[in-house]
This record gives sequence, C-alpha cells and structure tokens, in this order.
Amino acid sequence: MRTLTLNNGLKIPAIGFGTYKAQLEAIITALEEGCEYFDTASFYGNEGDIAEALERSGISRGKVFIASKLWKSDMGYDRTLEAFSRTLENLRSDYVDVYMIHWPRPNLELEEWKGLCLETWTAMEELHSQGKIKALGLSNFLPYHAENIIRNCRVMPSVAQFEFHPGHTQAFALDYYRRKGIQVQAWSPIGRGRVIDDVLIRELAGKYNVTPAQVCIRFSIQEGVMPLPKASSRERIRENLACLEFEIEDEDISRIENMPPLGWSGEHPDRERVKIQA
Ligand SMILES: NC(=O)c1ccc[n+]([C@@H]2O[C@H](COP(=O)([O-])OP(=O)(O)OC[C@H]3O[C@@H](n4cnc5c(N)ncnc54)[C@H](OP(=O)(O)O)[C@@H]3O)[C@@H](O)[C@H]2O)c1
Repeated sequence: MRTLTLNNGLKIPAIGFGTYKAQLEAIITALEEGCEYFDTASFYGNEGDIAEALERSGISRGKVFIASKLWKSDMGYDRTLEAFSRTLENLRSDYVDVYMIHWPRPNLELEEWKGLCLETWTAMEELHSQGKIKALGLSNFLPYHAENIIRNCRVMPSVAQFEFHPGHTQAFALDYYRRKGIQVQAWSPIGRGRVIDDVLIRELAGKYNVTPAQVCIRFSIQEGVMPLPKASSRERIRENLACLEFEIEDEDISRIENMPPLGWSGEHPDRERVKIQA
C-alpha cells in the first residue's frame, strides 16, 4: 500500500477506512480487502469492534494502524489519562497509532478552552513519551486553535483531520497545515454522498471511467490529503481502495479546486451545529 510519511517519521497508509456508524461486518470486510488504517473515536462507541474485527479476521494488531480521538467531555490532564486507558482497553491493545483531540472546545461557553487544550496535550505528550501513542493529532482544529498547541508543545502534532471534499476544501486550513508540515486527513471525503451528483464530478467520472465517489477520493489523494471514506459493502470498499490506482490530470484537479461550494456537514468548531437544508 502507498504510504505517507508523517513529520515524526512514522509511515502510514495513503488511504484509511472511516468507522463512524460502520457495522462490525464492514470493518471485517475492510480488513479482508487489505485496508490497513482505521479511524475511530471513543465517541463512535466502536473501538471494541475494531479489536473484535482483528480477532475474527486473524490479522495481528501490528499489521494495521488505529487512530482514535479523545472526546470533548474527557479533556483535561487527568481525564485524558483515564479516557486513553479506556480506549486501550476497548481496543485490547497497549498502544494507539494516532491519537487526536476530537474538537478544540468542549462547549462554546468555555472561555478557557486554550488552557484545557494544553493540559490535554501535555497528558498526550506523556503517553507519547511512554510509547503508548505513536503520533499525536488534532481533529477539527482551525489554524488559530492549532497555533495554541504548536506554540506551546514539546511534541508537534503530526496529523490534522477536518471535513474536506470537493466543494468544501477549507483551503485556508489546508494551506496552513501544509506549511507546518502536518499531514491533513479528510473526513467525509465523499461529503456523505452530497457531492456525487454534481455535474463536474459526474463529467470527470465519465472521463476517467470511474465512479463519482472515486473522483472525490482520488482528488483528496492528489491534494496530499489522506482520505478516510466509510463504506458498508465489499464492492464500495474495493472501489474506494482502487482510488490509489488511477490519476486525475492537473487541469481537472484545478477545476475541482475551483468549483462552487457544494455544501458541508454543518459541523464547525466555533458554532452550534448549522442546520443544512436538503
Ligand atoms: N473528526 C471528525 O469530527 C469526523 C467527523 C465525521 C467523520 N469522521 C471520520 O471520517 C469518516 C468518513 O466520513 P463520513 O462517514 O462522514 O463520510 P463519507 O466517507 O464521505 O461518506 C460516507 C457515505 O458515502 C457512502 N459511500 C461510501 N463509498 C461509496 C461509493 N464508493 N459510492 C457511493 N457511495 C459511497 C457510504 O455509504 P454506505 O456506508 O452505505 O456504503 C456513506 O453513506 C468517518 O467514518 C469517520 O471515521 C471524522
């Protein structure tokens, strides 16, 4: 599998599998199809399913990468250590490959979120120095949230995850993390399906003889962003992994980069959830 090298030297696969709302059977299928990177979170309630899927498929822990995330209510030094040990128990593992703070603010009212993030990060740095976390990450951190960590940390974030798909690339955040040498990961790389009916995405799917979902995933790969598509069937899991095997021309990448906004999830770190009209 093609790899990406993080700023701490860790090599991870260039595509992962998203597990939010994924069924155990889909995780097993993804393992069978050769997927080597699984993105979970304590909030998803399915860390145990990944352990179960590994056991059932007979694949050893060392053959895959597992990323998990610390939930909002677990932020703070002591809580982070407790939450992390629950994550290890759920995963039936003694380490996590990538561990992220899920959101920068536990709630919008808290003014002291910067201090809380730093306490949380300090605990994560300790776990990292003990070899229990291979790489640290930020999820849903805009550049100014990330600056708080970067200016004060001993261990730099290696990964930043945010919503990224055609029509919603968060170009300022992407540019910021690229300049900092932090690997960006795309959540909702297919826009939870809202992108695949777009006229340009359909045109390019026809041109490259692939599906619209593959155009979205391949776009992410060519932007240097690691996609984390979630899929339920073997056919779709295969289809998504096959995105490593074709190439979109530069001019078409530029057309996707410059397409009009196509909508987004409505989830933003500094806002109440924005209701999106169908
Ligand atoms: N850090 C965060 O706050 C955050 C937030 C959201 C998501 N995430 C991560 O990112 C992962 C992916 O995001 P997501 O699940 O929101 O969205 P997504 O991967 O963009 O979209 C998933 C949807 O696309 C469908 N799909 C998958 N492959 C397809 C294909 N080849 N053709 C047509 N449709 C296809 C899936 O359907 P079926 O399942 O029916 O196949 C599912 O409905 C999550 O699972 C999670 O790990 C992180």
